[in-house]
Amino acid sequence: MDSDRDKTIRLYADHVYPGKVEFYQKYDIVLVSEKRGGCKISDANGKTFYNCHCNGGVFNLGHRNKEVIKAVTQAMETYDIGNHHLISKPKAMLGKMIAQTLPEGLNQVVYGVSGGEAIDLAIKLARGVTGREDIISARGGYHGHTGFALATGDEKFKEKFKPVPAGFKQVMFNDMDEMEKAVGSNTAAVILETIPATMGMVIPFDHYLKRVKEICEKNASLLILDEVQTGFGRTGRFWGFENYDVRPDMMVMGKGMSGGIYPISATVYDEKYKGFFKENPFLHISTYGGSEIGCFAAMKVIEISREQQFLDHVVSLGEFFRQQLEALGGRYPGLGLKIRGKGLMMGLEFKDEITALFLIKLFFDNGIYVVYSGNDPKVIQFLPVLNISKTEAEEILTIMETSFKTISGE
Ligand SMILES: Cc1ncc(COP(=O)(O)O)c(C=O)c1O
Repeated sequence: MDSDRDKTIRLYADHVYPGKVEFYQKYDIVLVSEKRGGCKISDANGKTFYNCHCNGGVFNLGHRNKEVIKAVTQAMETYDIGNHHLISKPKAMLGKMIAQTLPEGLNQVVYGVSGGEAIDLAIKLARGVTGREDIISARGGYHGHTGFALATGDEKFKEKFKPVPAGFKQVMFNDMDEMEKAVGSNTAAVILETIPATMGMVIPFDHYLKRVKEICEKNASLLILDEVQTGFGRTGRFWGFENYDVRPDMMVMGKGMSGGIYPISATVYDEKYKGFFKENPFLHISTYGGSEIGCFAAMKVIEISREQQFLDHVVSLGEFFRQQLEALGGRYPGLGLKIRGKGLMMGLEFKDEITALFLIKLFFDNGIYVVYSGNDPKVIQFLPVLNISKTEAEEILTIMETSFKTISGE
């Protein structure tokens, strides 16, 4: 007889995403996520995994974080989604709180539901305030699958949906000359992830982002930084761009902002461009954007993740993982392991795709859930929860070593 888990898989295949089920079954990595808490998730069959992907940072504070749940539960006694036409205290309070985390002047907040939606708005706004068309993004970068966000991305995601909006150009990340040539008098904005995750956790060269900002300034174009993955403490600083001495004109946040409990995202722009929406305050609308319940989740996330002790923990665990992984790489040189990252935003590059894919499967079998970078499959994204303990980190490393041993035939 079919178990409840089998029924879920069948229903999911029948009504939600048949292709995903086929893919996971083919590689024998089916995970029907049921119980969850802290840094772990369990399959309906009882098998437990360390979640070391965290949905790109959604679960920065762990699964079902008690403080976030408490904030949201309390808010539900008084509030609901709210009405986007009306003035709202939670939205106002969160707006002020976000502005306090950012450099002076970056204080205009427009809420959304998803990262892609917030990116779309950033691009609308860049075109609106500059009156220009061109948007420059990085090849291999990823800003979402919605309209303008999709248009910034790689061809493989767009080709089936043509025509996509015009005016989008891509350059190589970290290539200053190409950027210099690409930005010109019709460039509305350059949009970059602070650390491009889907590209393979590529770390910006020293001064790269700062120089890109200078090029933007020279051409009166805007710099939009996508902090959807790098935000809320992931890199050991509250915002990823704080590591690189750069101030964007606009930035986008999502994922971790939700506390893993209630979806919410935001686009923040410089007060210099305030006039644009003043003229027409109904030019951009998101019915659920900045739901009042979500505002309480986000306020709690900011409160927790801005604590210096919290950020120091991220830096120290990031260093711990790096040192231990480097030692492991040294013990298993055949894997060609190279480690990169900032804080707990890490990329584990292996000698080739097959090695990385095989290791993902071994990690899965041994109790770690990770995924590879969509645009560079030889890189495993390593994004554990930020409040992970040293003991949990050690257990993860032990599982990794066991898997390294197996793949190396020891
Ligand atoms: C860097 C980055 N930007 C934007 C997005 C899009 O966010 P969402 O899936 O919430 O639309 C993602 C999603 O993975 C992302 O990683």
